[in-house]
Amino acid sequence: MLEFRDDYLIHIDSIVNTEIVKDIDYVGFVDWNVRDFHSFDTFHGATYNSYLIQDEKTAVIDSVKTQYVSYQIRNIADKVPLDNVDYVVCNHAEPDHAGGIAALLEYLPKAQLLCNVKCKDILTDYFKGVVNKWNVRVVSPDDAVSLGKRTLRFINTPMVHWPESMFTYLPEEQLLFSMDAFGQHIATSGRFDDQQDLPEILRAAKSYYANIVTPYGKQVQAVLKAAADLPVKMIAPSHGVIWRTHQQKILELYQQWSAGVQSKKILVVYDSMWESTSMMAQSIFEGATSVSDELDVQMIHIRKNCLTDIAAEMLDAAGAVFGSPTLNMQMMPHLSSVLTYIKGLKFSPKAAFAFGSYGWSSGGAEQIDKWIDDIGWKKICQPVKCRFKPDTNILKLCFNEGVKLAQTILK
Ligand code: FEO
Repeated sequence: MLEFRDDYLIHIDSIVNTEIVKDIDYVGFVDWNVRDFHSFDTFHGATYNSYLIQDEKTAVIDSVKTQYVSYQIRNIADKVPLDNVDYVVCNHAEPDHAGGIAALLEYLPKAQLLCNVKCKDILTDYFKGVVNKWNVRVVSPDDAVSLGKRTLRFINTPMVHWPESMFTYLPEEQLLFSMDAFGQHIATSGRFDDQQDLPEILRAAKSYYANIVTPYGKQVQAVLKAAADLPVKMIAPSHGVIWRTHQQKILELYQQWSAGVQSKKILVVYDSMWESTSMMAQSIFEGATSVSDELDVQMIHIRKNCLTDIAAEMLDAAGAVFGSPTLNMQMMPHLSSVLTYIKGLKFSPKAAFAFGSYGWSSGGAEQIDKWIDDIGWKKICQPVKCRFKPDTNILKLCFNEGVKLAQTILK
């Protein structure tokens, strides 16, 4: 655990523009500098959102990363005396939201921690020997915690994306605190979707879904079904902007992404040593693009693109081909990382095939071919291989397989 910085607790009495709705304020932290979030490339930063609800009773929704909890405590202290806070809700035990909870509870002497039973179990393992000293109330969807004019309700959302994941709902405001769901990794000064460039926010939301939520599409569908009857004016996730204008749009997109809906898109994903596999990739690309301008065909050299962006593009692709030269009888090591990552994310099955060059011993394209079989994607042809450098016949074969892939997708 990182050192707690109480020198950040300087009270400046000037934190403005935090109001979400009357008496509900943003008290989280905007992290402009984070660039790696457990291998998620956060080129545009991130936020760890927390909200303060002031009523007859006062509640804090979620905490932040350990190293920023001093800012969270300062933000709360700017609004209310710290010993007036009655509740802290923990919707999710992952350390970007719960890491700061131990320090937060130290500073909120009266606060009771509200979480579900699975969350309590996980927090017990994270904060060994400490949780039994906290005032914890285990809550369930049958509970209603009155704050006065407003009520906290709880919706368990298991595996979206951890077992203990939970939404908190404020019916009187029709406000859903949705934890990671509907989140985006992007740092902004404005807190709302209508204060930012919408395509940029939607791109960040898609990348977030692809890289964090994709394996749990069935669970997302179940949550969307359960939440369908809730009137929602505002969705306040634990990362990124709050949806107050485009909430229907993000709900529709979650419906599509979780159902595995694909667009007419093909990815040519490859690595190369001496340009032979690059030449093959180029011919596949040209074959696929020759079929129809309805298709979006993208060349992705894996050492010139990051895993995070590759996953975001893969989410709704209908076709994907993977190429690698053979190195030491294996595929190239970076492609191995890409395939491991894609396999874990459990994307909807794509039409696919393998290709690549080799020298005195093959193996790379065959490994990719086996990977396609293993994950159950729709293989449209045997691996396309060439020894050392592709000739006209090989490039023509690559072109033709690109055509076949495009035709398969357009059928
Ligand atoms: Fe943002 Fe799953 O933590």
